[in-house]
Amino acid sequence: MISIKNLLNSHDLSKEDLLEIIELGNDIYKSPTDFSHYADGKILGTLFFEPSTRTRLSFESAMLRLGGSVIGFSDSSNSSTTKGESLQDTVRTVSQYADIIAMRHPQEGAAYLASLAADCPIINAGDGGHQHPTQTLTDILTISNYKESLDNHVIGICGDLKYGRTVHSLIKVLNLFSNNKFILISPDELKLPQYVKEEVFDENNEYEEVRSLDAVIDKIDILYMTRIQKERFYSDAQYTRLKDSYLLNKEKMSQAREDMIVLHPLPRVNEIAKEVDRDPRAVYFQQVKFGMYVRMALIIKLLEANNA
Ligand code: CP
Repeated sequence: MISIKNLLNSHDLSKEDLLEIIELGNDIYKSPTDFSHYADGKILGTLFFEPSTRTRLSFESAMLRLGGSVIGFSDSSNSSTTKGESLQDTVRTVSQYADIIAMRHPQEGAAYLASLAADCPIINAGDGGHQHPTQTLTDILTISNYKESLDNHVIGICGDLKYGRTVHSLIKVLNLFSNNKFILISPDELKLPQYVKEEVFDENNEYEEVRSLDAVIDKIDILYMTRIQKERFYSDAQYTRLKDSYLLNKEKMSQAREDMIVLHPLPRVNEIAKEVDRDPRAVYFQQVKFGMYVRMALIIKLLEANNA
């Protein structure tokens, strides 16, 4: 049984919790129909105060594939939030109907606030630029399916490391494993913030910061591409200047290792050329599917932990 009652922050996951969820995610991936009645009669509430394709729909399909049902909104302008209802009251209300809630909100810390108000488990489906722990579970399940272990990798993380919440969670979790080295590839303006470095690295971790993907691509085992997060910029001019900082194309892939894999949380904008999609090392659409299986595993584990 996992040790947490809500999933708010990937930092809350112990290595044992993580491995338990990943193991179940793998079992579900191999035989999804074995789990098709696990959540019969249960309801997932999806409260999305920010746009989403993958996270919302993968949570919804995860619950439906477990035999449960789904309620919620994908556009808070149709909810009583527009009448001035507080986040806490909205969440407390929905927790009277639902057995578990997945929530995305633009404010950092919103999932924590929701967990204080709710009468059911809360899953953080993204809170501002802070955390996106179920994307991290998705990434780890994907890596574990393409690499023999989660240790001893050179991980290149490229793009918007300042606002990319998936990056912050992923580094922290990969640091639970041994001897992973990070190459942080970004423009100066979008480097991993100092407070995140202090949170995710300690004196045992090895990382370097570079601007050029070309200069390091041949050293990388796992390349994690990210988009430049337009919605988090205060200045349109700065976004326009930085938006095309990186382009992974066929020519760059020709410099990479034969066994490198490319992940991307998606959506992509311009940072990976479509011609790369056909390369067997590009696993970002398989990653989408792993996201559904790992969310099935998480729902099962949190329902179990809250019924114990
Ligand atoms: N990866 C991810 O969070 O995608 P969505 O924004 O579409 O949910």
